[in-house]
Amino acid sequence: MELKSVSTPLDKGLVILVTDKNTDIKKIGISKTEIAEVQQQQNSETHFTFLGNKIVVYIDDKPKNDFYRAEKCRLLGAELTELLNKHYKTESVTIGNYAGFKPAGYHFLEGMALANYQFTKYKKDPKKEKFALRTIAVLDSAASQKQIEELSSIVEAVHIARDLVNEPPNVLTAEQLALEAEKLAKKAKINIKILNKSEIKKEKMGGLLAVNLGSQTPPTFTIMEYKPKNAINKHPIVLVGKGVVFDTGGLSLKPTPQSMDYMKCDMGGAAAVICATYIAALNKLPLHIITLVPATDNRPGEDAYTPSDVITMHNNTTVEVLNTDAEGRMILADALSYAQRYNPQLVLDVATLTGAALFVLGSQGSLVMGNAGQDVINTLIKSGYETHERLIELPLWEEFKDYVKSDMGDIKNTGKGKEAGSIVGGVFLQNFVNYPWLHLDIATVAYTHEKHGYWNKNSGTGYGVRLIYQFLKNIAEIK
Ligand code: BES
Ligand code: ZN
Ligand code: ZN
Repeated sequence: MELKSVSTPLDKGLVILVTDKNTDIKKIGISKTEIAEVQQQQNSETHFTFLGNKIVVYIDDKPKNDFYRAEKCRLLGAELTELLNKHYKTESVTIGNYAGFKPAGYHFLEGMALANYQFTKYKKDPKKEKFALRTIAVLDSAASQKQIEELSSIVEAVHIARDLVNEPPNVLTAEQLALEAEKLAKKAKINIKILNKSEIKKEKMGGLLAVNLGSQTPPTFTIMEYKPKNAINKHPIVLVGKGVVFDTGGLSLKPTPQSMDYMKCDMGGAAAVICATYIAALNKLPLHIITLVPATDNRPGEDAYTPSDVITMHNNTTVEVLNTDAEGRMILADALSYAQRYNPQLVLDVATLTGAALFVLGSQGSLVMGNAGQDVINTLIKSGYETHERLIELPLWEEFKDYVKSDMGDIKNTGKGKEAGSIVGGVFLQNFVNYPWLHLDIATVAYTHEKHGYWNKNSGTGYGVRLIYQFLKNIAEIK
């Protein structure tokens, strides 16, 4: 798919005129009878009026603020992509903005492009089902060349993150995930180093090695580094992504088939940080960023780590394993401890960590915890509203620390029954950090079974890519 900024509409394809209640409908270049038709449609709350090769889109005034208004534009864009691909087989469109809400054209384009996603690699005849829409142009009065180039890289990265999640676990092993990161690193000129199993052993990453014991394939630990000369941060920002390429639960096998069937999404955190780093580099953000991805699958093989094992972690903390399905925190802990060597300004880990997150925001958002201070958390929350990848903060109150105390070792990898499951994940990880840190639990949003706007059904969502990139931009204070 190609996104471009043009000064006049493309010769071929449809022209999309984005309007709202502040549009002077007489000034958008349509005839009197067409104006009457548009007005009639808009009075009946129809969002699309089809006029030959033109479509007038009406953004209603229901959204209660500009964040919702932007999302409404994305959602209508997504709806139109679906309509065009299903019924019109249109190859190219040109978008013009005539709405009073200036970013309307940009967000409409964003929604259209995000929705124009398919994963057809394993179909016998992928071409047969391929969407027709290839080129989305936008008039430069609605969005600049620079904005469109950036958006194009963002959409590409979101689609790659979805591909990585959708890729089945018999293909996307831990080693393959590392190779995929390497391909992106090469394209964006990011330094990359992949630690193999023996190097992971030398590093004494006990958590990652323990989770990998039941597997037929080796673990990897990927380190990406983007360090531009004009970086404004003295100490790096470190991103850490959970890279469990498949989570069966291990010996504490997941109880129902339904809870396992989409566990290829358990590297959604890894996909998000890798792809966000990729666009940060492509767009030359002036930030020194290091990205760490511990990766393995979690299986009940004959050597599998076992409930009641005591594991010595990378930072020498001992962990009593009481549930092998709480594997994410085991591998992240080693990565967080490894990150200490960088003396980081901030570490953000992103992980599909707990099913318990479902009871907080469901599929509407993710959960953040950490010690990085309210300003940084607020910046992340704001980035969430800006991208509609929203999140809220959960507290890491002192009392919760006791929940992971162990009689056997220093800590255990479970908490107090069903209590505060997502927070328990956070307090566990807190034992491995000695720097400003945030933990983002994306368990409920990395994958969707239903279609929602620009998310396809039974697919990775790419959640986190736009959010993290926006967060990095906000840290670098780029408008
Ligand atoms: N990968 C799961 C969490 C998850 C659940 C991700 C649903 C995506 C969707 C994680 O490894 C896990 O199994 N967590 C356990 C922790 C428990 C055993 C302490 C959970 O949430 O049940
Ligand atoms: Zn698990
Ligand atoms: Zn998991």
